[in-house]
Amino acid sequence: MKRIRIKTVLSGVEPGTRVTVAGWVRTRRDSKGGFSFLEINDGSCLANLQVIAPAELDNYAGDVLKLHPGASVAVEGTLEASEGAGQAVEVRARAVRVLGFAPPVEYPLGKQKVGFDRLRELPHLRARTNSFGAVARVRHLLANATHRFFHERGFLYVHTPIITSSDCEGAGAMFQVTTLDPHTPPRRADGAVDYEQDFFGRRAALTVSGQLEGETYACAMGDIYTFGPTFRAENSNTRRHLAEFWMIEPEMAFADLDDDAELAEAFLRHLFQAVLRDGADDLRFFDRRVLPGVLARLERLADAPFGRVTYTEAVRLLETSGRAFEFAPCWGMDMQSEHERFLAEEVFKGPVVVTDYPAAIKAFYMRRNDDGRTVAAMDVLLPEVGEIIGGSQREERMEVLEATLRASGLNPDEYAAYLDLRRYGSVPHAGFGLGFERLVQFCTGMHNIRDVIPYPRAPRLCV
Ligand code: 4AD
Ligand code: MG
Repeated sequence: MKRIRIKTVLSGVEPGTRVTVAGWVRTRRDSKGGFSFLEINDGSCLANLQVIAPAELDNYAGDVLKLHPGASVAVEGTLEASEGAGQAVEVRARAVRVLGFAPPVEYPLGKQKVGFDRLRELPHLRARTNSFGAVARVRHLLANATHRFFHERGFLYVHTPIITSSDCEGAGAMFQVTTLDPHTPPRRADGAVDYEQDFFGRRAALTVSGQLEGETYACAMGDIYTFGPTFRAENSNTRRHLAEFWMIEPEMAFADLDDDAELAEAFLRHLFQAVLRDGADDLRFFDRRVLPGVLARLERLADAPFGRVTYTEAVRLLETSGRAFEFAPCWGMDMQSEHERFLAEEVFKGPVVVTDYPAAIKAFYMRRNDDGRTVAAMDVLLPEVGEIIGGSQREERMEVLEATLRASGLNPDEYAAYLDLRRYGSVPHAGFGLGFERLVQFCTGMHNIRDVIPYPRAPRLCV
């Protein structure tokens, strides 16, 4: 079928042009004057295209009057300047071909308003709503802007494995991958499950981060990034956590924590600018219908420099704020969402980079600072969302790394490849991970992270 997208039709095709459009019916209204109005959406943009279907059509009574929301049609007709309010152009149909009818009663996205909670149970249909269509388009353009940003800076896109045998964050929150029978797995003499007989001949899991493999490529190619799915089996039922989410992880050789923070800031600003430039219609929709003010916030942040503060100073700011937090702040604590948001929203009134966290609350691979108690780590905090980026300079000193692995209860033998990078031509290097869904959440103002990924996975949620 030669069809033209509605987005193209609405962005300046001359009235008088013959067009064929195809899409799903959002509404049908029958006028006494002997014609029907159809609102058609094809997903290419937020706006619907209005079609006027005159009663003279051969199949007017047989087909057009049986069209209900959700039905699919291909319409051939002429583009005309519209007399009605609400649209500049409309299509006067010469032919309406029904591709698929939809029964009038059962369609779950009929005229009534459907809440996000209910829509989460209908992931196969929710992309047909204004909100989820807009999220899908913004998500796409942020992914595209990500690849453009790194490509233009000479970063290589590296595909790291999804199935892995090492736990990058050392937190143990991994989904195991196995082909062993869960009821009667083979056992060793001591009763433990014998993973030598498993598919990979050892224990394997879904990756929590592509960082460790990304580092091996950075320590050969210079600047690289990964962009792929990651998995965490933590039982976090919050509006900021998913069990399956996408992460963007750049890694730079010959770089320190300052270079890392600079890259993070330039990257986020590039993303904000891209979504403002290319997603304006959808952003206006979010501003009107989802979170008033989200547009002005993005405009403000697209040019504002980020705040910078050390963890130690940030904790002091929290302690002396006079604010009654649910968790009282103290040095050594893992920052809670309420602390992160307070710093970004009240103190810095915008994004802030917090650096040099206590070693005890961060992963083994972060570079120890000379003070003996902090590491060269950074988190970027945003208003509303809290932590969006976590990163660090990596420990490049072989002996220090080995000692830290042992102290963290990890077996250095299992990190032999990682240690080899330090054995052979070790270089200072740094990188970070940006949670892609938290980014989409921030740009759209959507309240729940489960509504910015097509098929959300969370505890007890795998529809
Ligand atoms: O801070 P995290 O755990 O850092 C890492 O995984 C490092 N290996 C990254 C690196 O240095 N290459 O995760 C990075 C980001 C977080 O800041 C957050 O935005 C997001 O990933 N994230 C999640 N997003 C949704 N659901 C979850 N359960 C998430 N856990 C982390
Ligand atoms: Mg983190």
